[in-house]
Amino acid sequence: MPSPLNNTTFCLHTFGCQMNKHDSERVEGMLEALGSLPVATVEEADIVVFLTCCVREAADTRLYGQVSSLKNLPLRADSPLGERVVAVGGCIGQRDGEKLLETMPHLSVVFGTHNLASLPGLLSAAVEEGGRQVEVLESSEGFNDQLPTVREHSWAAWLPITIGCNNFCTYCIVPYVRGREKSRPIEDIRKEAQGLVGQGVKEITLLGQNVNSYGRDLYGSPRFGEVLDAVAETGIERIRFATSHPKDLTDEVIARFGTMKPLMPYLHLPAQSGSNRILKAMNRRYTREHYLDLVRKVRESCPDIALSTDIIVGFPGETEEDFADTLALVKEVGYHQAFTFIYSKREGTPAAEMPDDTPREVIQERFDRLVEAVQDGAFAANQVYRGTVQPVLVEGASKRDEHLLVGKSPHNVTVHAPIPEGLSIAQLEGTIVPVRIDNARTWYLSGEVL
Ligand code: SAH
Ligand code: SF4
Ligand code: F3S
Repeated sequence: MPSPLNNTTFCLHTFGCQMNKHDSERVEGMLEALGSLPVATVEEADIVVFLTCCVREAADTRLYGQVSSLKNLPLRADSPLGERVVAVGGCIGQRDGEKLLETMPHLSVVFGTHNLASLPGLLSAAVEEGGRQVEVLESSEGFNDQLPTVREHSWAAWLPITIGCNNFCTYCIVPYVRGREKSRPIEDIRKEAQGLVGQGVKEITLLGQNVNSYGRDLYGSPRFGEVLDAVAETGIERIRFATSHPKDLTDEVIARFGTMKPLMPYLHLPAQSGSNRILKAMNRRYTREHYLDLVRKVRESCPDIALSTDIIVGFPGETEEDFADTLALVKEVGYHQAFTFIYSKREGTPAAEMPDDTPREVIQERFDRLVEAVQDGAFAANQVYRGTVQPVLVEGASKRDEHLLVGKSPHNVTVHAPIPEGLSIAQLEGTIVPVRIDNARTWYLSGEVL
Protein backbone atom coordinates (compact mmCIF):
# COMPACT_ATOMS: atom_id res chain seq x y z
CA MET A 1 0.00 0.00 0.00
CA PRO A 2 1.46 3.37 -0.88
CA SER A 3 2.19 5.75 1.98
CA PRO A 4 -0.44 8.45 2.64
CA LEU A 5 2.42 10.87 1.95
CA ASN A 6 2.81 9.58 -1.61
CA ASN A 7 2.42 12.36 -4.22
CA THR A 8 2.44 15.08 -1.59
CA THR A 9 4.95 17.96 -1.59
CA PHE A 10 7.02 19.15 1.37
CA CYS A 11 9.06 22.18 2.35
CA LEU A 12 11.64 22.08 5.14
CA HIS A 13 12.68 25.08 7.22
CA THR A 14 15.84 24.43 9.18
CA PHE A 15 17.39 26.69 11.82
CA GLY A 16 20.29 26.45 14.23
CA CYS A 17 23.45 24.41 14.20
CA GLN A 18 24.87 21.71 11.95
CA MET A 19 23.12 19.06 14.06
CA ASN A 20 19.80 20.39 12.84
CA LYS A 21 21.10 20.76 9.30
CA HIS A 22 22.17 17.16 9.37
CA ASP A 23 18.82 16.10 10.85
CA SER A 24 17.09 17.93 8.03
CA GLU A 25 19.01 15.84 5.49
CA ARG A 26 17.58 12.75 7.17
CA VAL A 27 14.05 14.20 7.16
CA GLU A 28 14.38 14.95 3.48
CA GLY A 29 15.62 11.42 2.84
CA MET A 30 12.74 9.82 4.76
CA LEU A 31 10.01 11.91 3.13
CA GLU A 32 11.38 11.41 -0.37
CA ALA A 33 11.54 7.66 0.26
CA LEU A 34 7.78 7.76 0.95
CA GLY A 35 7.02 9.50 -2.33
CA SER A 36 6.79 13.09 -1.12
CA LEU A 37 8.48 15.69 -3.33
CA PRO A 38 10.62 18.55 -2.02
CA VAL A 39 9.51 22.03 -3.13
CA ALA A 40 11.16 25.39 -2.58
CA THR A 41 8.28 27.44 -1.19
CA VAL A 42 5.58 26.98 1.42
CA GLU A 43 2.95 28.01 -1.17
CA GLU A 44 3.62 24.84 -3.16
CA ALA A 45 4.00 22.62 -0.08
CA ASP A 46 1.34 20.27 1.30
CA ILE A 47 3.56 19.57 4.29
CA VAL A 48 5.75 22.15 6.04
CA VAL A 49 8.32 20.92 8.56
CA PHE A 50 10.24 23.25 10.87
CA LEU A 51 13.46 22.04 12.46
CA THR A 52 13.87 24.62 15.16
CA CYS A 53 16.57 26.10 17.37
CA CYS A 54 16.19 27.76 20.77
CA VAL A 55 19.79 28.58 21.61
CA ARG A 56 18.92 32.29 21.62
CA GLU A 57 15.61 34.06 22.09
CA ALA A 58 15.22 35.53 18.59
CA ALA A 59 14.54 32.05 17.21
CA ASP A 60 11.43 31.54 19.36
CA THR A 61 9.60 34.63 18.18
CA ARG A 62 10.56 34.00 14.60
CA LEU A 63 9.08 30.50 14.62
CA TYR A 64 5.79 31.71 16.00
CA GLY A 65 5.50 34.30 13.21
CA GLN A 66 6.39 31.83 10.50
CA VAL A 67 3.93 29.19 11.63
CA SER A 68 1.16 31.81 11.99
CA SER A 69 1.76 33.11 8.48
CA LEU A 70 0.79 29.69 7.08
CA LYS A 71 -2.69 29.92 8.56
CA ASN A 72 -4.41 31.68 5.67
CA LEU A 73 -2.26 30.33 2.88
CA PRO A 74 -4.34 28.28 0.41
CA LEU A 75 -3.22 24.76 -0.46
CA ARG A 76 -2.04 24.17 -4.04
CA ALA A 77 -4.85 23.15 -6.41
CA ASP A 78 -3.82 19.53 -7.08
CA SER A 79 -2.78 18.60 -3.54
CA PRO A 80 -3.96 15.13 -2.46
CA LEU A 81 -4.48 16.51 1.08
CA GLY A 82 -7.52 18.28 2.46
CA GLU A 83 -5.41 20.79 4.35
CA ARG A 84 -1.76 21.69 4.82
CA VAL A 85 0.05 19.68 7.48
CA VAL A 86 2.44 21.77 9.61
CA ALA A 87 5.03 20.04 11.81
CA VAL A 88 7.43 21.54 14.35
CA GLY A 89 10.42 19.53 15.50
CA GLY A 90 13.98 20.07 16.61
CA CYS A 91 14.96 21.87 19.79
CA ILE A 92 11.81 23.97 20.35
CA GLY A 93 9.69 20.87 19.73
CA GLN A 94 11.77 19.05 22.32
CA ARG A 95 11.59 21.89 24.84
CA ASP A 96 7.89 22.82 24.55
CA GLY A 97 6.22 19.63 23.31
CA GLU A 98 2.44 19.69 23.58
CA LYS A 99 2.43 23.31 24.78
CA LEU A 100 3.11 24.38 21.20
CA LEU A 101 -0.36 23.24 20.20
CA GLU A 102 -1.91 25.85 22.50
CA THR A 103 -0.06 28.79 21.00
CA MET A 104 -0.14 27.52 17.42
CA PRO A 105 -3.72 26.47 16.62
CA HIS A 106 -3.08 25.09 13.14
CA LEU A 107 -0.04 23.03 14.03
CA SER A 108 -0.66 19.31 13.35
CA VAL A 109 2.54 17.55 14.41
CA VAL A 110 5.11 18.10 17.17
CA PHE A 111 8.23 16.00 17.50
CA GLY A 112 11.55 16.37 19.31
CA THR A 113 15.26 15.85 18.84
CA HIS A 114 15.24 12.21 19.93
CA ASN A 115 12.65 10.78 17.55
CA LEU A 116 13.38 11.93 14.01
CA ALA A 117 12.51 8.45 12.74
CA SER A 118 8.93 8.84 14.04
CA LEU A 119 8.21 11.83 11.81
CA PRO A 120 6.87 9.92 8.77
CA GLY A 121 4.49 7.97 11.05
CA LEU A 122 3.30 11.14 12.78
CA LEU A 123 2.73 12.90 9.45
CA SER A 124 0.92 9.86 8.03
CA ALA A 125 -1.33 9.68 11.08
CA ALA A 126 -2.06 13.41 10.79
CA VAL A 127 -3.03 12.89 7.13
CA GLU A 128 -5.08 9.73 7.60
CA GLU A 129 -6.69 10.23 11.00
CA GLY A 130 -6.58 14.01 11.20
CA GLY A 131 -6.22 15.39 14.72
CA ARG A 132 -2.94 16.44 16.21
CA GLN A 133 0.03 14.19 16.71
CA VAL A 134 2.63 14.80 19.40
CA GLU A 135 5.62 12.65 20.29
CA VAL A 136 8.54 13.89 22.34
CA LEU A 137 10.92 11.39 23.96
CA GLU A 138 13.20 11.85 26.95
CA SER A 139 16.32 10.48 25.33
CA SER A 140 17.57 8.93 22.10
CA GLU A 141 17.77 5.24 21.38
CA GLY A 142 20.87 5.82 19.32
CA PHE A 143 22.04 7.40 16.10
CA ASN A 144 19.79 7.85 13.10
CA ASP A 145 22.39 6.22 10.90
CA GLN A 146 19.96 3.82 9.26
CA LEU A 147 17.72 6.58 7.97
CA PRO A 148 17.92 7.58 4.30
CA THR A 149 19.72 10.87 3.70
CA VAL A 150 19.64 13.50 1.00
CA ARG A 151 22.81 15.55 1.22
CA GLU A 152 22.91 19.21 0.28
CA HIS A 153 26.11 18.68 -1.73
CA SER A 154 27.31 15.42 -3.19
CA TRP A 155 30.95 16.19 -2.39
CA ALA A 156 30.68 17.27 1.27
CA ALA A 157 29.11 15.43 4.19
CA TRP A 158 28.46 15.94 7.87
CA LEU A 159 29.11 12.92 10.00
CA PRO A 160 27.83 13.00 13.60
CA ILE A 161 30.17 11.24 16.00
CA THR A 162 28.44 12.29 19.21
CA ILE A 163 24.99 13.60 20.03
CA GLY A 164 23.99 15.52 23.15
CA CYS A 165 26.15 17.40 25.60
CA ASN A 166 27.29 16.90 29.19
CA ASN A 167 28.94 20.24 29.75
CA PHE A 168 26.13 22.41 31.07
CA CYS A 169 27.69 25.76 30.36
CA THR A 170 25.46 27.92 32.54
CA TYR A 171 24.00 30.01 29.68
CA CYS A 172 23.24 27.13 27.35
CA ILE A 173 19.99 25.28 26.62
CA VAL A 174 21.54 22.61 24.39
CA PRO A 175 22.08 19.90 27.08
CA TYR A 176 18.39 20.20 28.03
CA VAL A 177 17.09 19.78 24.48
CA ARG A 178 19.66 17.36 23.07
CA GLY A 179 20.15 15.16 26.12
CA ARG A 180 23.30 13.52 27.47
CA GLU A 181 26.32 12.91 25.31
CA LYS A 182 26.32 9.64 23.37
CA SER A 183 29.19 8.52 21.19
CA ARG A 184 28.91 6.48 18.06
CA PRO A 185 31.16 3.41 17.86
CA ILE A 186 34.32 3.98 15.79
CA GLU A 187 33.48 1.05 13.52
CA ASP A 188 30.17 2.67 12.55
CA ILE A 189 31.93 5.97 11.89
CA ARG A 190 34.57 4.24 9.79
CA LYS A 191 31.93 2.42 7.74
CA GLU A 192 29.95 5.55 7.07
CA ALA A 193 33.12 7.45 6.11
CA GLN A 194 34.17 4.65 3.78
CA GLY A 195 30.75 4.70 2.14
CA LEU A 196 30.97 8.46 1.67
CA VAL A 197 34.41 8.22 0.07
CA GLY A 198 32.99 5.55 -2.24
CA GLN A 199 30.26 8.00 -3.27
CA GLY A 200 32.86 10.60 -4.22
CA VAL A 201 32.68 12.79 -1.10
CA LYS A 202 35.75 15.05 -0.81
CA GLU A 203 35.19 16.59 2.59
CA ILE A 204 33.84 15.12 5.82
CA THR A 205 33.00 17.31 8.80
CA LEU A 206 32.82 15.35 12.04
CA LEU A 207 30.09 16.72 14.27
CA GLY A 208 29.46 16.86 18.00
CA GLN A 209 28.72 19.55 20.58
CA ASN A 210 32.14 18.66 21.95
CA VAL A 211 34.01 16.20 19.74
CA ASN A 212 36.94 16.22 22.18
CA SER A 213 35.03 14.29 24.80
CA TYR A 214 34.18 11.55 22.30
CA GLY A 215 34.19 7.98 23.57
CA ARG A 216 33.93 8.45 27.33
CA ASP A 217 30.64 6.55 27.33
CA LEU A 218 31.93 3.67 25.19
CA TYR A 219 33.61 0.43 26.19
CA GLY A 220 37.39 0.92 26.25
CA SER A 221 36.96 4.72 26.09
CA PRO A 222 38.24 5.26 22.55
CA ARG A 223 39.49 8.81 22.01
CA PHE A 224 38.76 11.45 19.40
CA GLY A 225 42.28 11.07 17.97
CA GLU A 226 41.41 7.48 17.08
CA VAL A 227 38.28 8.65 15.27
CA LEU A 228 40.41 11.03 13.22
CA ASP A 229 42.77 8.18 12.35
CA ALA A 230 39.92 5.90 11.31
CA VAL A 231 38.41 8.56 9.06
CA ALA A 232 41.79 9.55 7.56
CA GLU A 233 42.46 5.89 6.69
CA THR A 234 39.47 5.89 4.33
CA GLY A 235 41.44 8.11 1.93
CA ILE A 236 39.12 11.11 2.31
CA GLU A 237 40.69 14.32 0.96
CA ARG A 238 39.53 16.80 3.59
CA ILE A 239 38.54 16.37 7.24
CA ARG A 240 37.14 19.08 9.47
CA PHE A 241 35.43 18.88 12.84
CA ALA A 242 33.22 20.96 15.11
CA THR A 243 32.99 21.76 17.94
CA SER A 244 36.02 21.57 20.19
CA HIS A 245 35.62 22.45 23.84
CA PRO A 246 38.92 23.97 25.01
CA LYS A 247 38.85 22.06 28.30
CA ASP A 248 39.06 18.75 26.43
CA LEU A 249 41.33 19.52 23.47
CA THR A 250 44.25 17.13 23.92
CA ASP A 251 47.88 17.23 22.78
CA GLU A 252 47.14 14.04 20.87
CA VAL A 253 44.59 15.85 18.69
CA ILE A 254 46.71 19.00 18.43
CA ALA A 255 49.63 16.93 17.13
CA ARG A 256 47.49 15.63 14.26
CA PHE A 257 47.19 19.12 12.81
CA GLY A 258 50.88 18.86 12.05
CA THR A 259 50.95 15.30 10.76
CA MET A 260 47.62 14.23 9.33
CA LYS A 261 47.46 15.27 5.71
CA PRO A 262 43.66 15.36 5.20
CA LEU A 263 43.08 17.24 8.46
CA MET A 264 42.52 20.82 7.29
CA PRO A 265 44.49 23.66 8.93
CA TYR A 266 41.45 25.17 10.54
CA LEU A 267 40.15 24.95 14.12
CA HIS A 268 36.99 26.35 15.66
CA LEU A 269 37.79 26.83 19.33
CA PRO A 270 35.03 28.70 21.17
CA ALA A 271 36.48 30.95 23.87
CA GLN A 272 33.12 32.50 24.92
CA SER A 273 34.93 35.07 27.11
CA GLY A 274 38.44 36.27 27.89
CA SER A 275 37.71 36.93 31.56
CA ASN A 276 38.51 34.23 34.09
CA ARG A 277 35.76 35.46 36.36
CA ILE A 278 33.16 35.15 33.61
CA LEU A 279 34.54 31.82 32.34
CA LYS A 280 34.05 30.48 35.84
CA ALA A 281 30.49 31.81 36.04
CA MET A 282 29.86 30.20 32.66
CA ASN A 283 31.12 26.85 34.00
CA ARG A 284 33.53 26.58 31.08
CA ARG A 285 36.19 24.92 33.24
CA TYR A 286 39.26 26.50 31.64
CA THR A 287 41.06 29.76 32.16
CA ARG A 288 42.16 32.44 29.74
CA GLU A 289 45.74 31.24 30.30
CA HIS A 290 44.86 27.65 29.44
CA TYR A 291 43.08 28.82 26.30
CA LEU A 292 46.05 30.91 25.15
CA ASP A 293 48.35 28.01 25.87
CA LEU A 294 46.23 25.81 23.61
CA VAL A 295 46.45 28.42 20.86
CA ARG A 296 50.24 28.46 21.24
CA LYS A 297 50.44 24.66 21.05
CA VAL A 298 48.11 24.44 18.07
CA ARG A 299 50.26 26.99 16.20
CA GLU A 300 53.40 25.12 17.12
CA SER A 301 51.90 22.00 15.60
CA CYS A 302 50.54 23.77 12.52
CA PRO A 303 52.01 27.27 12.09
CA ASP A 304 49.56 28.50 9.45
CA ILE A 305 46.40 27.18 11.12
CA ALA A 306 43.33 29.41 10.89
CA LEU A 307 41.37 29.82 14.11
CA SER A 308 37.77 30.81 14.67
CA THR A 309 35.77 31.19 17.85
CA ASP A 310 32.43 31.98 19.50
CA ILE A 311 32.12 34.88 21.93
CA ILE A 312 29.23 35.88 24.17
CA VAL A 313 28.91 39.54 25.17
CA GLY A 314 26.86 40.68 28.13
CA PHE A 315 26.83 37.51 30.24
CA PRO A 316 25.14 38.35 33.60
CA GLY A 317 27.47 40.48 35.70
CA GLU A 318 30.00 41.16 32.92
CA THR A 319 31.86 44.36 33.80
CA GLU A 320 33.79 46.71 31.56
CA GLU A 321 36.94 45.07 32.86
CA ASP A 322 35.71 41.58 31.98
CA PHE A 323 34.84 42.79 28.53
CA ALA A 324 38.26 44.41 28.13
CA ASP A 325 39.77 40.96 28.80
CA THR A 326 37.63 39.49 26.03
CA LEU A 327 38.59 42.21 23.59
CA ALA A 328 42.27 41.76 24.45
CA LEU A 329 42.00 38.00 23.94
CA VAL A 330 40.43 38.47 20.51
CA LYS A 331 43.21 40.86 19.50
CA GLU A 332 45.92 38.64 20.90
CA VAL A 333 44.75 35.48 19.12
CA GLY A 334 43.99 37.10 15.75
CA TYR A 335 41.06 34.97 14.65
CA HIS A 336 40.17 34.37 11.03
CA GLN A 337 36.56 34.47 12.05
CA ALA A 338 34.52 34.90 15.22
CA PHE A 339 30.83 34.30 15.77
CA THR A 340 29.71 36.94 18.25
CA PHE A 341 26.50 36.75 20.25
CA ILE A 342 24.74 38.97 22.72
CA TYR A 343 23.85 36.91 25.77
CA SER A 344 20.27 35.69 25.62
CA LYS A 345 18.57 34.48 28.78
CA ARG A 346 17.27 30.92 28.48
CA GLU A 347 14.69 29.82 31.05
CA GLY A 348 15.79 26.75 32.94
CA THR A 349 19.52 27.40 32.68
CA PRO A 350 21.55 28.43 35.76
CA ALA A 351 22.56 31.78 34.25
CA ALA A 352 18.90 32.75 33.98
CA GLU A 353 18.91 33.00 37.79
CA MET A 354 21.97 35.24 37.96
CA PRO A 355 21.58 39.00 38.58
CA ASP A 356 21.76 40.69 35.23
CA ASP A 357 21.63 44.45 35.41
CA THR A 358 23.94 45.69 32.68
CA PRO A 359 21.94 48.12 30.52
CA ARG A 360 21.11 46.98 27.00
CA GLU A 361 22.92 49.98 25.43
CA VAL A 362 26.12 49.19 27.28
CA ILE A 363 26.04 45.61 26.02
CA GLN A 364 25.27 46.74 22.48
CA GLU A 365 28.19 49.18 22.59
CA ARG A 366 30.54 46.40 23.76
CA PHE A 367 29.21 44.15 21.06
CA ASP A 368 29.92 46.78 18.38
CA ARG A 369 33.48 47.21 19.62
CA LEU A 370 33.98 43.46 19.55
CA VAL A 371 32.63 43.14 16.01
CA GLU A 372 35.04 45.85 14.88
CA ALA A 373 37.99 44.05 16.48
CA VAL A 374 36.90 40.77 14.86
CA GLN A 375 36.69 42.41 11.43
CA ASP A 376 40.10 44.05 11.79
CA GLY A 377 41.56 40.71 12.87
CA ALA A 378 39.98 38.80 9.99
CA PHE A 379 41.19 41.36 7.46
CA ALA A 380 44.73 41.19 8.82
CA ALA A 381 44.71 37.38 8.99
CA ASN A 382 43.62 37.09 5.35
CA GLN A 383 46.47 39.24 4.02
CA VAL A 384 48.91 36.34 4.41
CA TYR A 385 47.22 34.56 1.50
CA ARG A 386 47.96 37.28 -1.07
CA GLY A 387 50.17 35.87 -3.77
CA THR A 388 49.76 32.27 -2.57
CA VAL A 389 48.05 29.48 -4.48
CA GLN A 390 45.19 27.84 -2.58
CA PRO A 391 43.49 24.53 -3.44
CA VAL A 392 39.83 25.53 -3.45
CA LEU A 393 36.95 23.08 -3.11
CA VAL A 394 34.35 24.60 -5.43
CA GLU A 395 30.85 24.92 -3.93
CA GLY A 396 29.04 26.60 -6.82
CA ALA A 397 28.56 29.90 -8.61
CA SER A 398 28.27 33.15 -6.72
CA LYS A 399 24.67 34.19 -6.06
CA ARG A 400 25.55 37.75 -7.02
CA ASP A 401 27.56 37.02 -10.14
CA GLU A 402 27.08 33.80 -12.11
CA HIS A 403 30.51 34.21 -13.74
CA LEU A 404 32.24 33.75 -10.37
CA LEU A 405 32.92 30.46 -8.64
CA VAL A 406 32.80 30.26 -4.85
CA GLY A 407 34.63 27.71 -2.75
CA LYS A 408 36.62 27.10 0.40
CA SER A 409 40.37 27.12 0.95
CA PRO A 410 41.90 24.55 3.30
CA HIS A 411 41.81 27.28 5.98
CA ASN A 412 38.04 27.47 5.51
CA VAL A 413 38.25 30.93 3.96
CA THR A 414 35.76 31.69 1.17
CA VAL A 415 37.44 32.19 -2.21
CA HIS A 416 35.98 33.84 -5.33
CA ALA A 417 37.42 33.47 -8.83
CA PRO A 418 36.09 33.93 -12.37
CA ILE A 419 34.95 30.64 -13.89
CA PRO A 420 37.65 29.78 -16.46
CA GLU A 421 36.58 30.08 -20.08
CA GLY A 422 35.33 26.85 -21.64
CA LEU A 423 34.34 25.37 -18.25
CA SER A 424 30.88 25.31 -16.70
CA ILE A 425 30.15 25.56 -13.00
CA ALA A 426 28.57 22.09 -13.15
CA GLN A 427 31.95 20.67 -14.21
CA LEU A 428 33.73 22.50 -11.40
CA GLU A 429 31.36 21.89 -8.47
CA GLY A 430 32.85 19.51 -5.96
CA THR A 431 36.31 19.59 -7.53
CA ILE A 432 39.43 21.09 -6.00
CA VAL A 433 41.02 23.76 -8.22
CA PRO A 434 44.21 25.80 -7.65
CA VAL A 435 43.49 29.52 -7.26
CA ARG A 436 46.16 32.23 -7.16
CA ILE A 437 45.03 34.74 -4.54
CA ASP A 438 45.31 38.35 -5.70
CA ASN A 439 43.07 40.08 -3.22
CA ALA A 440 42.25 39.56 0.45
CA ARG A 441 39.16 41.14 2.02
CA THR A 442 37.68 40.72 5.48
CA TRP A 443 35.47 37.74 4.68
CA TYR A 444 36.81 36.40 1.40
CA LEU A 445 39.77 36.06 -0.92
CA SER A 446 39.69 36.47 -4.67
CA GLY A 447 41.97 35.48 -7.51
CA GLU A 448 42.35 33.47 -10.72
CA VAL A 449 42.08 29.74 -11.35
CA LEU A 450 45.46 28.49 -12.59
N1 SAH B 1 28.65 23.02 21.53
C1 SAH B 1 29.12 24.13 20.81
C2 SAH B 1 28.03 25.04 20.26
C3 SAH B 1 26.94 25.47 21.14
S1 SAH B 1 25.78 26.62 20.55
C4 SAH B 1 30.11 24.82 21.71
O1 SAH B 1 30.27 24.49 22.85
O2 SAH B 1 30.78 25.71 21.21
C5 SAH B 1 26.77 27.76 19.63
C6 SAH B 1 27.13 29.02 20.34
O3 SAH B 1 25.99 29.74 20.72
C7 SAH B 1 27.90 28.84 21.60
O4 SAH B 1 29.25 28.59 21.39
C8 SAH B 1 27.69 30.15 22.31
O5 SAH B 1 28.67 31.10 21.94
C9 SAH B 1 26.35 30.61 21.77
N2 SAH B 1 25.32 30.55 22.80
C10 SAH B 1 24.87 29.45 23.44
N3 SAH B 1 23.93 29.80 24.36
C11 SAH B 1 23.80 31.14 24.27
C12 SAH B 1 23.00 32.11 24.98
N4 SAH B 1 22.16 31.74 25.93
N5 SAH B 1 23.13 33.41 24.62
C13 SAH B 1 23.98 33.79 23.66
N6 SAH B 1 24.77 32.94 23.00
C14 SAH B 1 24.68 31.63 23.29
FE1 SF4 C 1 26.23 24.41 25.17
FE2 SF4 C 1 28.51 24.31 26.49
FE3 SF4 C 1 27.43 22.07 25.55
FE4 SF4 C 1 28.45 23.83 23.86
S1 SF4 C 1 29.60 22.69 25.42
S2 SF4 C 1 26.49 22.79 23.69
S3 SF4 C 1 27.99 25.78 24.83
S4 SF4 C 1 26.59 23.37 27.16
FE1 F3S D 1 20.06 25.32 18.28
FE2 F3S D 1 19.45 22.93 19.02
FE3 F3S D 1 21.66 23.34 17.68
S1 F3S D 1 19.17 24.75 20.24
S2 F3S D 1 22.24 25.39 18.27
S3 F3S D 1 19.63 23.63 16.93
S4 F3S D 1 21.37 21.86 19.30
